[in-house]
Amino acid sequence: MIVLGIESSCDETGLALFDSEKGMIGHIVNSQHDIHGKYGGVVPELASRDHVLKLVPLLDQLLSQNKISLHNINLIAFTNGPGLLGPLLTGASFAKSLAWSLKIKSIEVDHLEAHIFSPMITEKNLNLPFISLLVSGGHTILTLVKANSDYKVLGKTLDDSAGEVFDKVARHLGLAYPGGPEISKAAANTNKSSYKFPRPMIKTNCYNFSFSGLKTNVTQLINKLELNDLIISEIAYDFENSIIDVLITKTLKAAREYNIENIVIAGGVSANQKLRMRCNLEKGEKKIFFPDMAYSTDNGAMIAYIGWLKSSKKTKDISLEINPNPSSRFV
Ligand SMILES: Nc1ncnc2c1ncn2[C@@H]1O[C@H](COP(=O)(O)OP(=O)(O)OP(=O)(O)O)[C@@H](O)[C@H]1O
Ligand SMILES: [Mg+2]
Repeated sequence: MIVLGIESSCDETGLALFDSEKGMIGHIVNSQHDIHGKYGGVVPELASRDHVLKLVPLLDQLLSQNKISLHNINLIAFTNGPGLLGPLLTGASFAKSLAWSLKIKSIEVDHLEAHIFSPMITEKNLNLPFISLLVSGGHTILTLVKANSDYKVLGKTLDDSAGEVFDKVARHLGLAYPGGPEISKAAANTNKSSYKFPRPMIKTNCYNFSFSGLKTNVTQLINKLELNDLIISEIAYDFENSIIDVLITKTLKAAREYNIENIVIAGGVSANQKLRMRCNLEKGEKKIFFPDMAYSTDNGAMIAYIGWLKSSKKTKDISLEINPNPSSRFV
């Protein structure tokens, strides 16, 4: 079965072709960072308009690069939420009308579920059950994934997500958008810091997170300082460590308490190299799985893959009714 995956929940237009026998055939992502960079965050209307412009040419490019015809596609999986309503509508309309014209089925996909299962695209040794840390631009959620569709949310952020705080602190430091990779680059210029930020909720017994106080603490400090490259690096260094300390401590605690061997860390922030390195050093007896770097931030490959995983369910349809869901079962 060949599945076309379509992602358009925010500021990436992602398309992928997945073959259930041979694996991922190819994927393509257009990021709108240049469009939104000057505003320091995503402008929903501009995002929708760019998805409209890019969906058809990207599909043409993906098909011709991989020498696949539209008529070889058996199923179309698309992100139905959570995300920005306009961008979701563009992807859903495109997916449903294409499926209708090809007389094939489409399947709605939860973007967060797609992130959570994204390491399975490449990691053949990852088995259920696992503890999932989804850490992205919009969410920070710890979940016990018992089986396909059998999930127990253990905790989530009470305010900002980790990715959002990376982006906002970067903006205050005068760094580019998206802020996560920029903070990492700045932090890599030093191996110590004169600053010590809080590690919010690191010692609480629950699995919730809270990053907005950390953001305020760092931005208040920035407002008092005359920034230079050294100060920026030292602030970035301890800020990044603070987030990583909290994420790793809570995730390992959950894995130990629930006696689960496998851990999955996925979503945009999972692209963070220091997080990956520290996990390797601190995982002890646990196994930690990350998505391939190309599948960490938003992409169509994870949508095609989860669409295929779910394709035996009765959720596939051939109607043209569009019903994007800006929220998710996880939140
Ligand atoms: N190397 C990195 N270090 C830290 N954060 C990173 C890194 N690379 C990307 N990010 C962060 O990942 C986030 C984007 O991730 P993703 O594309 O999964 O989010 P989203 O789709 O907007 O949100 P969600 O998946 O919750 O709906 C941004 O906040 C970005 O700063
Ligand atoms: Mg995402």
